[in-house]
Amino acid sequence: MKVLAVGGGGREHAAVEALHRSGAEIYAVMKNANPGIIARSAGYRLCDEKRVDEVVAFAKECGAELAFIGPEAPLEVGLVDALQAAGIRCASPTKAAARIETSKSFMRGLVERHGIKGNLGYAAFDNAADTEAYLRTLDHEIVVKPVGLTGGKGVKVQGEHLNSFEETMDYVHEIFDANIGGAGVIIEEKAVGEEFTQMVFCDGEHVVPMPLVQDHKRAYEGDVGPNTGGMGSYSDADHLLPFITEEEREAAVDIIRSVVRAMKEEGCPYVGTLYGQFMLTRDGPKIIEFNARFGDPEAMNVLTVLKTPFAEVCRMMADGCLGDVEFEHKATVCKYVVPKGYGVKSETGKEIIFDEEGIRDAGAVVYYANVDEKDGRIVTMSSRSAGIVGVADTIEEAERRCEAALEHVESDWISVRHDIGKRELVEKRVTHMKRIRGE
Ligand code: AMP
Ligand code: GLY
Repeated sequence: MKVLAVGGGGREHAAVEALHRSGAEIYAVMKNANPGIIARSAGYRLCDEKRVDEVVAFAKECGAELAFIGPEAPLEVGLVDALQAAGIRCASPTKAAARIETSKSFMRGLVERHGIKGNLGYAAFDNAADTEAYLRTLDHEIVVKPVGLTGGKGVKVQGEHLNSFEETMDYVHEIFDANIGGAGVIIEEKAVGEEFTQMVFCDGEHVVPMPLVQDHKRAYEGDVGPNTGGMGSYSDADHLLPFITEEEREAAVDIIRSVVRAMKEEGCPYVGTLYGQFMLTRDGPKIIEFNARFGDPEAMNVLTVLKTPFAEVCRMMADGCLGDVEFEHKATVCKYVVPKGYGVKSETGKEIIFDEEGIRDAGAVVYYANVDEKDGRIVTMSSRSAGIVGVADTIEEAERRCEAALEHVESDWISVRHDIGKRELVEKRVTHMKRIRGE
């Protein structure tokens, strides 16, 4: 089957690798020359993934029968709608369905209209004066979010990034003055607990859960520093996480099922991978956000252990006949190699040398991300460079393999959060959750 794969990051390299394993003939569109994707593609085009006409023309030229879109930006501008109009089936959501991610007020409104569990108190504003008046009425901590897309970096949390009323209002003014996200501000109740990611495959109606993953958004070890797109993530062999019970996981999947039902009822059925970010609180899972795509890095954890051929999963989603999907019972630990300064100001154009054989021999996989290949050299760009995923029977062993593999990545211009997946950090999560539950 000829498959169009859109996007040039680590998530997309993991998807392309999984498509390749399942025998698909891949045609890729991406902004950067990702060497991992190029190696697996029968053809590729370097262009902005939001240029819908150009992407559709390329897909037609290649005779693509099915499309997988990695990032959210092309979904927001209607790439899926245009591909479908050209007769190409898609394992990704339409523009209307992608609003579950692209408009935080649509998401909170949908959950509210359908009385779905797990919602947080929120209010949306289009000016700073009304936001301030509302904030003065509150007696609990909140989170400030631009309404539109900001690549996961626009969220500021009271008690963490915002430590006074003035700091909160300064940020609100900044969002309106600089038009961050482009669509106003949401003030959300702050949820306290442990975060986890539940992704599912979806065909508009049926929902198939993937293994749970925990991402690490903060730039520096010990969970401090600015929020990033995600520095690394882990998953467990039983597909749960050490701090979550089967019932709590089921509660999160139920919330997702309700969202999928609500979207069908509202005339924008959801097809593709749906990403639920939850905070596990004392009162169960609360919705932090939904994304209309795989998480990045989370895609690298789950796709590495996907047993069912991914091309077949995509076809079933696109055709509305999603059946069983199997994952290996293995633990994974993914650590992102990022350019020095990532999260503030990245060192770009610096060479990184990857010894792929050494990485493989260490029991890990490398997924290239926001790098460029120039004259046979791999150089950093402004975002995350490559994900290294260790796979084993336990999180501890997967972490060791990931670290052993990192010995085979050479550069003076990179950093890694080595604490991800280590026993101390995982235990800290478990202890934190016990405290939240009052145990
Ligand atoms: P988002 O881009 O919505 O995923 O937010 C980025 C990060 O901010 C999340 O991963 C959380 O750590 C934090 N965050 C967002 N919303 C909330 C909330 N309502 N309560 C607590 N933390 C939040
Ligand atoms: N890992 C968070 C995201 O993909 O949005």
